[in-house]
Amino acid sequence: MSVIDILVDEHRLVRKYLDTLGIAIDLMGTGGKLPKEFLEKTLDFSNTFLDTYHHYKEEYVIFLKLAEKKGGTIDPQIVSLREQHERGRTFVKAIARSIDGYLEGSEVQRAKLFENLGYFYQLQRAHLNRENHVFFPMARKTFTEAEMEGFMEEFKKEEARLGPETLAYSEKLVAQMDTQLAEVFGDQYQEKRVQLEKVRAH
Ligand SMILES: [Fe+2]
Ligand SMILES: [Fe+2]
Repeated sequence: MSVIDILVDEHRLVRKYLDTLGIAIDLMGTGGKLPKEFLEKTLDFSNTFLDTYHHYKEEYVIFLKLAEKKGGTIDPQIVSLREQHERGRTFVKAIARSIDGYLEGSEVQRAKLFENLGYFYQLQRAHLNRENHVFFPMARKTFTEAEMEGFMEEFKKEEARLGPETLAYSEKLVAQMDTQLAEVFGDQYQEKRVQLEKVRAH
């Protein structure tokens, strides 16, 4: 497994997270009230997995080396990918600020939360596709096997620093988010999940 395979694999978990979040946003849009624990886990996954575990590998290893190797020709694109990471963090902060008010019944905070969850979701989905379809293929073509092996060492060091349980913890968060929605929304949730699988199958 190469470092790019690892990133693609991490994107699978991010996609699972986004699928669940997308269902939650839909449910919220039709009047559903998202539980506190679900919102907390949404933030936790973003902080623990996206911003720390995943983005470090992209920004400080792959993007950095890719920009170097391309001799400045793709710098604007790399800057724009980094800006997307940054914008994601800004949305997460805005989401966090609205949670208490939303849970206490504030309509203003509900609207803000709904808006920022939507922006965050759309941004992450577009960003992930851009990496999968443009940057990862470019990285596969650009780096030699020896360079890829060197990056693998960097990845391992970073994973050891964060703690080997981070990935399993993050997978559990996504599973718990799913269970929470299923518990609160029952059939309504199941219908949305079935719809999603149908769209994917086509
Ligand atoms: Fe990224
Ligand atoms: Fe990514």
